[in-house]
Amino acid sequence: MRTIIEPFRIKSVEPIRMTTRAEREELLKAAHYNLFGLHSDDVLIDLLTDSGTGAMSAAQWSAVMRGDESYAGSPSYYRFEAAIRDLMPFTHIIPTHQGRAAEAILFSLLGGAGKNIPSNTHFDTTRGNIEGTGARAHDLVIAEGRDPSSLHPFKGNMDTDRLIAYLDQHGDSVPCVMLTITNNAGGGQPVSLENIRAVSDIARARGLPFIIDGCRFAENAWFIKSREPGQADRAIRDIVRDCFSVADGMTMSAKKDAFANIGGWLALNDDALAERARTRLIQTEGFPTYGGLAGRDLDAIAQGLAEIIDEDYLRYRIRANEYMVERLDALGVPVVQPAGGHAVFIDARKFLPHIDPLHYPGQALATALYLEGGIRTCEIGTVMFGRQPDGSEIPASMDLLRMAMPRRTYTQSHCDYLIEVFADLVRARDSIRGFRIDWEPPMMRHFTCHFAPLA
Ligand code: F0G
Repeated sequence: MRTIIEPFRIKSVEPIRMTTRAEREELLKAAHYNLFGLHSDDVLIDLLTDSGTGAMSAAQWSAVMRGDESYAGSPSYYRFEAAIRDLMPFTHIIPTHQGRAAEAILFSLLGGAGKNIPSNTHFDTTRGNIEGTGARAHDLVIAEGRDPSSLHPFKGNMDTDRLIAYLDQHGDSVPCVMLTITNNAGGGQPVSLENIRAVSDIARARGLPFIIDGCRFAENAWFIKSREPGQADRAIRDIVRDCFSVADGMTMSAKKDAFANIGGWLALNDDALAERARTRLIQTEGFPTYGGLAGRDLDAIAQGLAEIIDEDYLRYRIRANEYMVERLDALGVPVVQPAGGHAVFIDARKFLPHIDPLHYPGQALATALYLEGGIRTCEIGTVMFGRQPDGSEIPASMDLLRMAMPRRTYTQSHCDYLIEVFADLVRARDSIRGFRIDWEPPMMRHFTCHFAPLA
């Protein structure tokens, strides 16, 4: 097999500013060792998120120029709507400025005190928008999805037995069933078409709307094509349509699998619910043919959706992560297996066993990667989840480091550089120290808290 090359050439570039280790030591200190506090031009390779950080194509930039900024009835909206409906056959398509705005509108209508909402794993903003209404959010992913070393091909699947028991237990308090494809908070792991259909059958048999969080729908479809029996010869577009044709609605962040820097949507089939959502949209986002976006953003999304289902792109996209996982595994770095769709996750607790979880091994590894190589990543562990509502602190179930890959942005030599930095960290791992938190805000502390290195 030959190298799977980046299926694009580069026409416009952004320089990366080189920094020295000594500079990075000072920059880290000034940011209180919180990588969110860095200026991004002090970062060599930025793997903080894959959200809104990808490269647009020449065709998308052309579409931006075509954008029509009419307040109502813009042709850009109709191109946006048609591009979505080509993949996701929903009746009502409601633009929003990003994914969490779609969630906020949906749960302002379906949530509320006493309600219970299941998913495989809710993303943080989804959970936040559910809990913000007084409802409760529950994660029912299969057991393999919580085991970093399990090689199950669809670790994002919902545990359907648990879902049935959950619906029996919670009865009328459940307003809908959700499913996140791919399962971001669970390592970017996919959900099979069989599982999507099974969850849909269970929800619809009880008259409950089935809503997909479709942020990474194209990556998920590629996994279905390459791993699910009987799917190998099917077009990605047909697989995507199959996934969404059994759903009653979706929330979407166009910052992921629509190749856009901003945008999202809420789609629904139910006329009455859509009417209420549009009223809410006018109150919070804007008129229903722009929803908080510029016309040019709508056109960039429409074009991005045509590009994201390209098989050469998806093959390269998933292969790039597999390549990193294979190389890191060969170095003895404990990577979450198999590779996810949008990110490579490291089991930091296992990599740094001498650091107590309450001294944040994920943060220690993230800081070491920046210091050694100028690479910015994100802790997903005790810093993010350890603080309890009663003020106590307990270790999260896992201490992971997420290396999220922006789309079409970095090349294989950037990956090779990252692997070389890891090789140095493997040699130096015993000298990596944990942290304590010096200051934190009352909630969502990981964005702004201050750390101090332990001696
Ligand atoms: N759902 C999932 C599965 C997500 O990954 C995200 C965002 C959202 C919803 C919210 O979308 O950012 O457009 O409001 N994930 C980003 C990340 C922030 O880094 O994983 P948004």
